[in-house]
Order: sequence, then structure tokens, then C-alpha cells
Amino acid sequence: MAAKPTIYYILAFVLLLCIISIASYRTYKVYAFLPSAEKDTADIKWIAPSIDNITDGENSSIIHYGLQLIANTAAYLGPKGSVGILTNGMNCQNCHLDAGTRLNANCFAAVAATYPKYKERSGRIESVEFRVNDCLQRSLNGKPLDSTSKEMKALVAYINWVGKGVHKSNLPSGMGIPDMPLLHRAASAGNGKNIYATKCISSHNADGQGLAQKDSSYIYPPLWGSHSFNVSAGMYRLTRLASFIKQNMPYVAIQNKPILTDEEAWDVAAYIIAQKRPVKIFADDWKNIANKPVDYPFGPFADSFSIVQHQYGPYEEIKKWMQKTQGGALAKTGK
Ligand code: HEC
Repeated sequence: MAAKPTIYYILAFVLLLCIISIASYRTYKVYAFLPSAEKDTADIKWIAPSIDNITDGENSSIIHYGLQLIANTAAYLGPKGSVGILTNGMNCQNCHLDAGTRLNANCFAAVAATYPKYKERSGRIESVEFRVNDCLQRSLNGKPLDSTSKEMKALVAYINWVGKGVHKSNLPSGMGIPDMPLLHRAASAGNGKNIYATKCISSHNADGQGLAQKDSSYIYPPLWGSHSFNVSAGMYRLTRLASFIKQNMPYVAIQNKPILTDEEAWDVAAYIIAQKRPVKIFADDWKNIANKPVDYPFGPFADSFSIVQHQYGPYEEIKKWMQKTQGGALAKTGK
């Protein structure tokens, strides 16, 4: 008879353990699905897969080739490229840092899970191949690759491999380039010139042409001029460039924590944007003009703000106007 209460105690204890573990599992799940702004300590931290651990089943040689193409694009496709002369000498890795595996630096982790994807710029559902060709024609101011070419297959295989295990319903934070607080004034290329002279010149040179190697690829990319990205590239939009700089520059000194203030990043981005670069316009971009992001600097615009204000800000007024006339949904800094 004396054993009975002990059994009850044990049963009660087991029940308590079950309740605790179910409760903590639910808490984890709930956190995992919160929109990123609401997430706190439970942020999903994405860690890139290691290239050394590719299994044979994953088609390792094509993925390795894809990595080479991302990291040393110019050696294969640049002005002295071994495969063909398609691009301006920049490498994909100049903007997709660590071959697209660094967070807040145009990371590729979410691409496999989210493409094919509808994009407002083209007004169509884009495949990964289409998006890669966009960067080839805009960021690398070059020609597109045939979607059946060995190089395109390798680039896509690598990008898909980077994003394996990432799910659409549960995207990690740090993808793409994050938005940063808007500046209350127009960004100043004049201030930016001084910041450039103190913080950027040692890598990118006084003439902005970076540091090239003999094979005409760049250790530090050209920020303007004939070998840099053209005016239809994402980086030509001030919000994108300022945020990329804030998160990732100066390249050598930065260690996970921004060094430049927001104002410095906005102003130095304005200085870079104010310089000459290749002009290539795509007639099909932003066909629905009401969808143009606030910093897209080519008219016609749905609003009556000037081209200069679209290019350098201030953006708050434009955003407010969009919110008023379009119910807020389209008032974006644009992705
Ligand atoms: C001059 C900078 C630059 C270079 C060089 C560049 N890209 Fe991009 N890339 C961007 C920007 C900016 C975006 C858009 C990021 C955003 O929307 O926030 C982007 C987006 C992409 C995307 C879509 C990412 C997503 O999450 O939707 C892919 C894929 C991509 N690039 C591939 C490439 C490849 C492959 C190369 C080399 C052949 C390359 N890029 C070279 C700047 C660059």
C-alpha cells in the first residue's frame, strides 16, 4: 500500500516534464515564425554550408566551379576572361561578399527558397537564371549568359547549394541589404567627398578605380567609371548603396559592427553616385511607374518630386506622398 503514493509522485513528475517540454517547443515555434522586426533573442541565425563538406551526391565539381565563377568572375568572363569576354572586370563577390554567404552583404541564402519570384522591376516572375543575367548586364555591365551554358548551370548550382535547408516560411534575417533609417536631409556628395578621402581612398583610390590585378580582375572594385556597375544596377540606387556601405565598409577594418555613422554612409554613397559611370537603360524596368522605389532616379514619376530629390533625397516627403496617395503599400525604399 505504501508504494502507491510514490507512483503517483513519479507520474506527476513525468507529466510536469512533458508539459514543460511541450511549452518550450511551442515558444520556440512561435518565435521562429514572428516577422523579423518582432524577433529578439530567438532570431534565426543562418550559417553557410562549408564547401569542404560537399558530398559526392551533391554534384561537387559543378558547385565548386560555381564558387570560382562568383569569387573570380573576371578570370572567366572579364575583359581577359578564359571562357569569354562578357563582363567589366568586377567579381560577383565584390557585392555578394564571401561568395554570397555573408549576412547583410547581399547574401544568397534565401534565393533557392524564394525563386522563381515575382519582381516589381521587371513586372514578371523571375527565375534564378534571369536574376543572375540581370546582375551580369547591370552590376557587371556585361552580356547575359545562355541559360543552358555550363557557367550559368554552375552559378545556379552554387546558389542553390548555398541556400539548401532554407525554407520560404522561415527565412533567416540578414538576407539582401537591410533598410536603414532615412536621412532627414538630402545626402551630400560634398560631405561624402571628405569621407571618401579619409575612409575609402586607400582601397578604392583617389580616382575611384580600385585596385586591379594583371588579369584585369579587381582586389578592390572600381566604384565609378567604365569598369564599374551601370546606372541600371541596384547599387546605383542611393538607399541600396548607402546601406551596403554602412553594413560592410571599410572592407578591411569592419568586423561585424558598422564603423561609419548613418550620415557618413548616406553622404559617401551620394559622392559615389554623383560620379560618371556607364549608362545602360532597360526600357522594361518599372513599367508600372507607381511602383518605382523612392530612390529610383529615372522618370517619368507618378509624383511631382524632382529627379534630384529621387536620387539624393530627402525621401520622407516622397514616402509620405506615396502613403497618402497609394495607401502605404507602395511607399517603399524598394527591393
Ligand atoms: C555591383 C554590385 C553587384 C555585383 C558585382 C553583382 N551583384 Fe548580384 N545583386 C546586387 C544587388 C544590389 C542585388 C539586389 C539586392 C536587393 O534587392 O536588396 C543583387 C541581387 C542578386 C541576386 C538576387 C538575390 C535575392 O535575394 O533576390 C542574385 C541571384 C545575384 N545578385 C547574383 C549575382 C551574380 C551571380 C553575380 C555575378 C555574375 C552578381 N550578382 C554580381 C549587386 C551586385
